[in-house]
Amino acid sequence: MDFIKEIQKLRSEKNAVILAHYYQTGDIQDIADFVGDSLALSQKAASTPAEIILFAGVKFMAETAKLLSPRKKVLLPDMNAGCSLADSCRDDDFRAFIEENPGRTVISYVNTNTGIKALSDIICTSSNAVQIVESLPAGEKIIFAPDRNLGNYIASKTGRDIVVWNGACHVHEEFSIEAILGIRKLNPDARIIVHPECELPVRMIADFTGSTAALLNFTRKDPSMKFIVATEPGVIHQMKKENPEKTFIPAPPRDSTCGCSECNFMKLITLEKIYSCLLNEEPEINIDQDLLVKAQKPILRMMEISEKLGL
Ligand code: 13P
Ligand code: SF4
Repeated sequence: MDFIKEIQKLRSEKNAVILAHYYQTGDIQDIADFVGDSLALSQKAASTPAEIILFAGVKFMAETAKLLSPRKKVLLPDMNAGCSLADSCRDDDFRAFIEENPGRTVISYVNTNTGIKALSDIICTSSNAVQIVESLPAGEKIIFAPDRNLGNYIASKTGRDIVVWNGACHVHEEFSIEAILGIRKLNPDARIIVHPECELPVRMIADFTGSTAALLNFTRKDPSMKFIVATEPGVIHQMKKENPEKTFIPAPPRDSTCGCSECNFMKLITLEKIYSCLLNEEPEINIDQDLLVKAQKPILRMMEISEKLGL
């Protein structure tokens, strides 16, 4: 079956939009109506006139789309597309953590399950985290969850008093600093670009640190012809499309037997699953109404701040 043709047919018959994250495979990025990072995808989910949103990404992203467009049908082609980072922070443990650290504003990364969002004051993504923290009055004390690397990165950038939850992403913590430096030795003209979910030693050797969208933007503007990319390699598809004359080298993980640093959750989504999901209109994201109302608030606060700051 020609899945691309069938998906295109179903998409227009059903007035559906396909939103894809940069970590999806190239064929999915190419068929999507919109490809972006977590922030841009949230903004798109909030503003789309389509009746159905099919999310080619992971569960927390589809849930965020549902929170922003609760009356729309939001579909995720594989409900097992989770996130190790989101799962490193469980509701009861986080509730206890907030109680142990009273009087702090709770900022959570969008890579969280809905229950954690409902316990938070503001949500952020890697694109706007620093600016959201800086938008708060100086002296305001903060809890940041769940990513320890992003949390420490924000604390070092802003100098704010931040207590950080001890969670991490299994993909971004796997990069090998030795292997990256080895590649750089062979390619002294290459720029090392890094996602803030990477560990400090990797961030320390970076020429640029930023969200997937910021990394893509950097490769567009920077005059360098070679980049060592320390994030999930799906983003290299867009980098190559936009800069065909430049070279992109995926940063290798510590365990060289697995070869690359793909996110196994992101890669659960396939064209075939997108086709059957659109056809059957399931699996569908459903969120309990009370939880939805609680989890919506901190996301809307993020959207407001982002809009005010022009992000
Ligand atoms: P972005 O916020 O850059 O889209 O990253 C999302 C993500 O899952 C990183 O691992
Ligand atoms: Fe989650 Fe890491 Fe995959 Fe991003 S790359 S979706 S943080 S497991």
